[in-house]
Amino acid sequence: MKIVTTIQEVREQVKAWRKEGQTVGLVPTMGYLHEGHASLMDASVRDNDKTVISVFVNPMQFGPTEDLESYPRDLAHDAALAEAHGVDLIFHPEPEEMYHEGFSSFVDMTVLTEELCGLSRPVHFRGVCTVVAKLFNIVQPDKAYFGKKDAQQLAVIRHMVDDLNMNLEIIGCPIVREEDGLAKSSRNTYLNPEERKAALILSQAIALGAELVRRGETDCKAITDAMKTKIETEPLARIDYVKLVDAATMQQIPVLDRPALCAIAVFIGRTRLIDNFFTEDVGGAV
Ligand code: PAF
Repeated sequence: MKIVTTIQEVREQVKAWRKEGQTVGLVPTMGYLHEGHASLMDASVRDNDKTVISVFVNPMQFGPTEDLESYPRDLAHDAALAEAHGVDLIFHPEPEEMYHEGFSSFVDMTVLTEELCGLSRPVHFRGVCTVVAKLFNIVQPDKAYFGKKDAQQLAVIRHMVDDLNMNLEIIGCPIVREEDGLAKSSRNTYLNPEERKAALILSQAIALGAELVRRGETDCKAITDAMKTKIETEPLARIDYVKLVDAATMQQIPVLDRPALCAIAVFIGRTRLIDNFFTEDVGGAV
């Protein structure tokens, strides 16, 4: 497995693979890899001849008061995990390699970015779309892999690929959880032991919402109210949002009459965590 830092090195390697007729999968990451990322790497290694991962903490997707500086980084750990999972190339650029002086082109999206994390993190999806579009242009993969934990991100990227006629397939992979239910996230490392326990309220609220849907509840407010009440029992938790949205448009809906996403964002202390379920995945009536 190689680690490269320049766009040119990635292009040369991918060109050589293409000459040999090899297919290429891409797993974009911000590093500090965990089993959630491992499941994406495994899927790519299974589906493609070669797998590239990017490890880049993208400054453009962090707001001014967010955790860009403190975001955990450990390239040696990432390299060991990636190698163990059969990755062929790590692209680990410096910010200057991705955003040269005078950089002034962005990929912006309306509608799908107006709700959920797009509402709480106004610059986030512009940064995500721009960096992901750049990574697609640099690597030119056949397939790219994203986790369903970032469900809005996955929908936004699918939409971008469709809108801009990008020539690749986007694969969404299931949420990977800790044994006790907490969705795996690099940000879980911010939690102290007390907060780690409190963070279980997210997956418990998700389980409650999923159960209500499974039992046939279709009133979105009834479902989200029950989930909010559950989260409010945890003193360390502060709700950012608990919402049910149309799975395609990410717009809020009053009644479950179409495939929907139930998404939550909750602060545990100062750490903002997200979790979700798709009604389709929990055997809802619709
Ligand atoms: O999901 C992430 O880790 C990031 O948003 C991504 C897709 C790597 C873009 O920086």
